[in-house]
Amino acid sequence: MELKKKVGYAAAEYVKDGDVVGLGTGSTTHYFIKRLGKRVMEEDIEILGIPTSYQSFLLAKSSGIFITTLEENDIDIAVDGADEVDSNLNLIKGGGAAHTLEKIVDSAADKFVVIVDGSKIVQNLGKFPVPLEVIPEARRTVNKQVKEYGGIPNLRMAKMKDGPVITDNGNFIIDVKFEIIEKPEYLEKELNSIPGVVENGIFAGIVDEVIVGTSEGLKTLKK
Ligand code: 5RP
Repeated sequence: MELKKKVGYAAAEYVKDGDVVGLGTGSTTHYFIKRLGKRVMEEDIEILGIPTSYQSFLLAKSSGIFITTLEENDIDIAVDGADEVDSNLNLIKGGGAAHTLEKIVDSAADKFVVIVDGSKIVQNLGKFPVPLEVIPEARRTVNKQVKEYGGIPNLRMAKMKDGPVITDNGNFIIDVKFEIIEKPEYLEKELNSIPGVVENGIFAGIVDEVIVGTSEGLKTLKK
């Protein structure tokens, strides 16, 4: 938790007065959003936030950050967490089932900064399953097709609710386990071409900077 807090706080310093900020989802961005709210209160800076989930929307509201939408504004900087970061700064995201809106917001930003603790850094993606947001009617046909790509699909089940996870957009999540993912940009496109897949959790080639929290301190990775 301490490392997540440190990277979240560090990223909050990247935001400048007047910025429109993409607000990622998860336990790491939690600290970023809280700290940004504190800056808004204490430094009298004007920030507008574009949330990537109900979680970040509610947290931003309670932290004193004004909300806007992609309909009204472009994004100067987006800050988000990740489940895996490979050596080329490709990501797997979607551990919180929010990757569809996260990808829309993160890829629209002039600058996309990822915040993680060191446990998320890998050589190649693939230890973490790739989440697919799927239209419920397509569950079985998507399962069949991901197996043709060598994936093992698993419908994500909810905790504190009976049955499957339902996303903020009303869809299912199918987590697909692959062996090592050597060509993430290729797999990202292929998975999105399966009918019924709304979006998958591979984010290839869109990251500008990663702030990594380690026991030796913070490191930044850039392309
Ligand atoms: C949500 C995400 C999160 O950013 C990702 O799961 C990392 O979460 P955490 O910061 O809690 O480890 O992609 O869909």
